[in-house]
Amino acid sequence: MPSPTISEKGSEPTLPQATFRFRCIGCAWVTPSAAQDFRCSQCGNLLEITDPAWRSGSFQASALKSLWRDRRSSNASLDRSGVWRFRELLPAPQSVQNVITLREGNTPLYDLPQSSRITGVNRLYGKHQGMNPTGSFKDAGMTVAATFARQAGYRWVACASTGNTSASMAAYAARGGMCSLVLVPEGKISWSKLSQALDYGALTCQLRTDFDGCLRLLQELVQRAPVYQLNSINPFRLEGQKTLALELLEQLDWQPPDHIIVPGGNLGNSSAIGKALLEMLEIGLIPRLPKLSVIQAEGANALVRTLREAGGKHLVSVQAETRATAIRIGNPASWQKAVNVLQATGGACEQVSELEIAQAKAEIGAEGIGCEPASAVTLAGLKKLVKQDFVKRDETVVLVLTGSLLKDPDFTMEFHRGDLFKGTVLESESVKLDRFRHPPVVLDATLEAVIRTLEQAEKSDPTHSNV
Ligand code: F0G
Repeated sequence: MPSPTISEKGSEPTLPQATFRFRCIGCAWVTPSAAQDFRCSQCGNLLEITDPAWRSGSFQASALKSLWRDRRSSNASLDRSGVWRFRELLPAPQSVQNVITLREGNTPLYDLPQSSRITGVNRLYGKHQGMNPTGSFKDAGMTVAATFARQAGYRWVACASTGNTSASMAAYAARGGMCSLVLVPEGKISWSKLSQALDYGALTCQLRTDFDGCLRLLQELVQRAPVYQLNSINPFRLEGQKTLALELLEQLDWQPPDHIIVPGGNLGNSSAIGKALLEMLEIGLIPRLPKLSVIQAEGANALVRTLREAGGKHLVSVQAETRATAIRIGNPASWQKAVNVLQATGGACEQVSELEIAQAKAEIGAEGIGCEPASAVTLAGLKKLVKQDFVKRDETVVLVLTGSLLKDPDFTMEFHRGDLFKGTVLESESVKLDRFRHPPVVLDATLEAVIRTLEQAEKSDPTHSNV
């Protein structure tokens, strides 16, 4: 494989020609093809993708950096994708025509001045994956996995989901001319996410169980029906999600931050980011590894308990409960991959309470960018990691904001109206969050009423004094 040059610019994009294989993360068994459940036939552990183009090539880190930068000025569809722009580090489809893309990736890296003041961390950024086409980080993985599903000739793709995966899968299936089957826990996903799946034409089944029950059922289904599963067990998903880290490092001029902090649910995303960091180090794209830390909700803390109670040796499952419904997962499929990347990068794993999540979400909202509740665990977790002195105030920290504010309007409305914790054990304690609430005000439609309200706000609401 020759080193890439920038002469590709302007011409039809080409794909790296090297093939890839699957490798078991447990026993390191390598195979050219994977079974429907993406598990090792020798030991049952999960498979990952190995031997991508760069391993068999002679890629120079500096040549890759300039190639990827140069593609940003290209109008070719493959180059406009913030995922396929980094295709040298992805498994290669057989032809460019197979690629299903919605121009995913290309998400902003924001500085977070108010959260920086709150935590005392001077250089604090948010990598906002909620700015993807369907509003969450899932799109980066879905473009790759959906591409390979179509290439393999599948008519149906399927997933179990807490909402974002289903929205993303339904969109990419629709773009790729495939049918999609969504299994979601009834009453436990936000209307926004559910409505996306409906509009994109998915066959949507609301099952009377939780996410873990949906995923179990999907595992059985793929053994019986010709459907291709697009959960993050599917290693093609994780390959696409690696590009979050590539794009982030590019945005930081390849100067690694000290810490990357990510929410943990089914633990695919942390695994993907960790894999990307290790590959970047191996290729020489970065001189050292950032510490990758995972934050979970206290009520869905399987990884926290797996590390604390079992030393990362076996999974400690939990009965998950949290208002951050995206991460309401008690039996995370990729726990072993996540343990591996935490150990490899020296990251931490923490849990945060429902009140801490609600407060952090309001604080990120007050930055003018917002995010969904699951994403806000990163800021809540950072506060703890600073207190523990694991994160130092002079270090550079990136929070991965995984989903858009618009993904869960019920949470936001209930929070600002003061209803979020009504009737729960947290009700009395939640009054301490009153200063973060901005409830809507109902008024007579008169100028006097609006002016009076404005004057009162000016006097009483401390947050308005910053404006
Ligand atoms: N943040 C958001 C907004 C999510 O939707 C998810 C997962 C996570 C964080 C956790 O990522 O599972 O890779 O550890 N949502 C999945 C779904 C499970 O079905 O949409 P993870």
